[in-house]
Amino acid sequence: MPSAPAASPLIVTLDGPAGVGKSSIASRLAGELGIAFLDTGAMFRAAAYTLGEGSWDWTQGILQQKLGDFEFTLRGSGKDTELLLNGQPLPGDIRSEQTGLWASQLAVVPSVRAYMKMAQIFLGQTTSLVAEGRDMGTVVFPGAQFKFFLDADPAERARRRFLQLQAQGKPADLDAILASITQRDDQDRNRSIAPMKPAQGAVVIDTTHISEGEVLAQVLGTVRQ
Ligand code: DC
Repeated sequence: MPSAPAASPLIVTLDGPAGVGKSSIASRLAGELGIAFLDTGAMFRAAAYTLGEGSWDWTQGILQQKLGDFEFTLRGSGKDTELLLNGQPLPGDIRSEQTGLWASQLAVVPSVRAYMKMAQIFLGQTTSLVAEGRDMGTVVFPGAQFKFFLDADPAERARRRFLQLQAQGKPADLDAILASITQRDDQDRNRSIAPMKPAQGAVVIDTTHISEGEVLAQVLGTVRQ
């Protein structure tokens, strides 16, 4: 008797601008659902960090060749999900505002976007995911079962990032954070390939005045319905 076809992986997409809290919600949501989460911003950050500042000026051919040496894999699930680059944890410093800006600049390069899209689709072919980024629902996983777009005022996003850095005992300058967030918003929204925007059919949640717990409850409520 032929065996039943394997169920396709569950894909939940979570897109939105810098500092809106996507990674935190994605990891908690993945924990509730018992699946992995994919932080695609970390993939762009790791590439920018590894290739070095100014890599977006390189020719498409050289970039393509360098990216060919990158292999991203996922291990574990929920908040314990680990994203590995060539079998190793991602470099530690990728979370800085500076690396975020480099990543945003690298992310406009067509060969980089094509490579990342391919790598992300590949991961989602075998693994159920909460995939968070800028173009998860629009470009990478247009057929995802659930799509969300989180947004918040830039000033509130800068404030959250400021508090997070302070809590970690790291230097934090609110004005500089706001300037960096605003620059990235502009770059990520206005690029010609895969600009950041809500996917068709995505549930849009303005998180400016609600807590992370409330956002999670809203997202979970929709997925479990
Ligand atoms: O989510 P993040 O702040 O870590 O992302 C860093 C940058 O990477 C972001 O400013 C733009 C780019 N990025 C992207 O272009 N597409 C994605 N799916 C995720 C991130």
